[in-house]
Amino acid sequence: DVVDIRQFSKTGMFTFDPGFLATAACESKITFIDGDQGQLYYRGYPIEQLAEHSDYMETCYLLINGELPSEAQKKEFTRIVMRHTMVHDQMTRFFQGFRRDAHPMAMMVGVTGALSAFYQDSLDITNPRHREVTMYRLISKIPTIAAMCYRYSKGLPFNYPKNDLSYTANFMHMMFATPCEEYKPNPVLVKALDRIFMLHADHEQNASTSTVRLAGSSGANPFACIAAGIACLWGPSHGGANEAVLKMLDEIGSIDNVPAFMEGVKNKTHKLMGFGHRVYKNMDPRANIMRETCYEVLKELGLENDPKLKLAMALEKIALEDPYFIERKLYPNVDFYSGIVLTALNIPVSMFTVVFALARTVGWISHWNEMISDPGMKIGRPRQLYTGSPRRDYVPVEQRA
Ligand code: ACO
Repeated sequence: DVVDIRQFSKTGMFTFDPGFLATAACESKITFIDGDQGQLYYRGYPIEQLAEHSDYMETCYLLINGELPSEAQKKEFTRIVMRHTMVHDQMTRFFQGFRRDAHPMAMMVGVTGALSAFYQDSLDITNPRHREVTMYRLISKIPTIAAMCYRYSKGLPFNYPKNDLSYTANFMHMMFATPCEEYKPNPVLVKALDRIFMLHADHEQNASTSTVRLAGSSGANPFACIAAGIACLWGPSHGGANEAVLKMLDEIGSIDNVPAFMEGVKNKTHKLMGFGHRVYKNMDPRANIMRETCYEVLKELGLENDPKLKLAMALEKIALEDPYFIERKLYPNVDFYSGIVLTALNIPVSMFTVVFALARTVGWISHWNEMISDPGMKIGRPRQLYTGSPRRDYVPVEQRA
């Protein structure tokens, strides 16, 4: 049931809904989540069908434009995206201001925000052409910036983009190519990473997307809004979850320690990371696809007996049969398995959330564009329930106890 409370504000009434458990802040045509059925649709297409038949470039086109592209449209879209992958040379100096041990997400927030200083020619958000160019620039340059964060933190020279590769293979090239040998990304691993990008491309009004919308509602420039989204994504309850899953698996160490760990979960000493979701109360459809991808990747690499995978499977089995989790409708989410896949792809734990940010950029910018294109857009301005001190008079400092 939906109650449109806009008329209430005229009578001075408002709702108190901490954490937005029951409040829609906007209308959107981009993504639909059916939390009870465990279904996710991008522009009406089920995520399972997209994961099986589509790819990330096509998904980007779909999220931005609302329709799947024709063959010619897809080719042209990919060509434009790949043509914008370079960043301004001055940006390499910008990186040098960071410590080498800075978290890559800290660099991502700073560098993405700084894009507005490099691309001042497209900051008129009322101009649809400027918005379009900005969307292309973001989708194109984010993998380059993400790979630069990684290379910088390792003390490695930056790799130039290789635009005859696919979007995802090019990201792997920028991450891992060395001058000593020709880098040939393994197609099975490229497909797995591309699928990770697709599964993370959008998820309607999650915390980071809502942050981008709220920041954008003031008319702030889009690069700054995306930087705000990246900052929000960094938290362990959101994009930092797959990093937290791997840390948790390391802490548990072996299957023998699972029962004691689970006792701690029930006593609320710690959470089972990678479990639970605000909207999915049946299952996260992305988790099933990610589990399958995990098997495919580990098989390709001959790592079927990977101890982390075995431990994750044991944890999942125990949790799914445990009344504590059943009563609270807690199921594995996409991040329960994505960390294992990313590790197998040689992506270090500190880069996990960066990969998420890369993939989600298209979702953020699609929502930003949808909001800005809406003639009825209003600045986001949540209300509050004030619980502080009542009115009191100022006391000069010498008279205070
Ligand atoms: N482990 C153990 N117990 C949990 C977990 C968990 N992962 N998640 C929720 N619970 C429990 C809560 O303690 C609470 O128990 P109670 O009723 O006894 O108090 C109950 O389940 C309801 O949980 P809430 O915190 O109210 O659920 P909410 O919707 O606010 O939280 C969230 C959702 C933040 C995702 C939470 O499940 C969580 O912290 N999970 C672990 C982190 C994680 O995996 N995040 C990734 C989300 S997906 C993504 O960002 C791509």
